[in-house]
Amino acid sequence: MSETNPITEEAVEAAAEEALASLATATNLAEFKALRAAHTGEGSALSRLNAQLRNVPSDQKAASGKLVGQARGRVNQAFAAREESLRVEEEVRKLAAESVDVTAAPAHWRAGARHPLSTMQDAISDIFVGMGWEVADGPELENEWFNFDALNFAPDHPARAMQDTFFVEPVESHLLLRTHTSPVQLRALLARELPVYVVAPGRVFRTDELDATHTPVFSQVEGIAIDRGLTMAHLRGTLEHLARQLFGDEAKIRLRPNFFPFTEPSAEMDVWQPGAKGGARWVEWGGCGMVNPNVLRAAGIDPEEYQGFAFGMGIERTLQFRNALNDMRDMVEGDIRFNTQFGTVV
Ligand code: DAH
Repeated sequence: MSETNPITEEAVEAAAEEALASLATATNLAEFKALRAAHTGEGSALSRLNAQLRNVPSDQKAASGKLVGQARGRVNQAFAAREESLRVEEEVRKLAAESVDVTAAPAHWRAGARHPLSTMQDAISDIFVGMGWEVADGPELENEWFNFDALNFAPDHPARAMQDTFFVEPVESHLLLRTHTSPVQLRALLARELPVYVVAPGRVFRTDELDATHTPVFSQVEGIAIDRGLTMAHLRGTLEHLARQLFGDEAKIRLRPNFFPFTEPSAEMDVWQPGAKGGARWVEWGGCGMVNPNVLRAAGIDPEEYQGFAFGMGIERTLQFRNALNDMRDMVEGDIRFNTQFGTVV
C-alpha cells in the first residue's frame, strides 16, 4: 500500500494562483511588500507545502520537490517583476508631481510703484545734492512764528487769514498746518553754521477745494542759500541748472518782478519748457528772490555780512505741466494705475 502524498498538484497550483492573483491588488510598493510577506514568506501556503516535503514518500520526493520548487520560482519571479514595475510607476509619479511647467503663465504679483511725486521730489533733491547742497525738512504742524512772523509777513497779511490757513485750536497755541515750505528756511538757518545751502521738499496745506488744479494738501520744494557775496546771478544760475536737469538742455528761466514778504527783490519765475506737448512755451513755475534782511535778522544773522537767495515751487504743479497731466486729482487719489504709468521706480 503506497503512502499518501500530502503535496498534490492541485494544492500547489491553487497556492501559486492565489499568490499570483494577489499581485494585481498591489497599487504601490508598501502594499506590495505586505502581499509578498503573506504569499511568499514563512506561513504562506507555498512555504507550508514546501515544509510538507519531508512527509512525502521517498519515491515521490523528487517529483513533489520539483512541483513546489517550480511553483515557488514562478511566484517569486512574478513578484520580482511586479516589484520592479511598481518601483518604476512610483518613480514616474514622483517625477510628474515634481515637474515644473516652464511654459506656464507665472503667478502675477502686482508690483507697487512709487508715487511720481515722491520720485520727482527725490529727483529735485538729488540735483541739489549734486551741487553740494543739503536736504532738510521741517514739521508739517508748524508754529505761526516760523510760518509767518519770522518770514516778515505783516500781522494783517491776507495769507494769514482763515480762508487760506488751517489754524489749529486753541488759537492761542499759535500752531497751524504750514502753508508753505518757507518756514524751513528759518529752521535751517537756526540749526546750521553759515554758509547754508539747503533744499527742503515737503507737504503743505491750504484751505483750497480739490479740483483739477488745486489740492488742499500738496508739496513744495524750498531752497535757501546764505553765504558771503551771493547775488541774483547765483539765484538765476542755480534755477537754470535745475530747469535744464528737469526739462532738458534747451530749458531756461526768466524772472518777473513780484512781491513776497521774505524776499527783496522778489520775482516770479517762469521756465521755458522745450518739450511741452503743444510746443515749447513759458510756464509759471515758482517764486524766488534775495532773502529779505528781516528774515536774516530773525535768524540772528547780520545782513551786512551774509546775503543769499531763496526759491520755492509746487511739486504737483511741476509734475502736472512737465508730464502734461490734465487733472491734479489723479495725483492724490492713490490709484495704482496712475502711478504705474511713471514706471515702477523703487
Ligand atoms: N512760499 C511761497 C509760496 O508758497 C513760494 C516762495 C516764493 C518761496 C519766493 C520762496 C521765495 O523761498 O523766495 O507761494
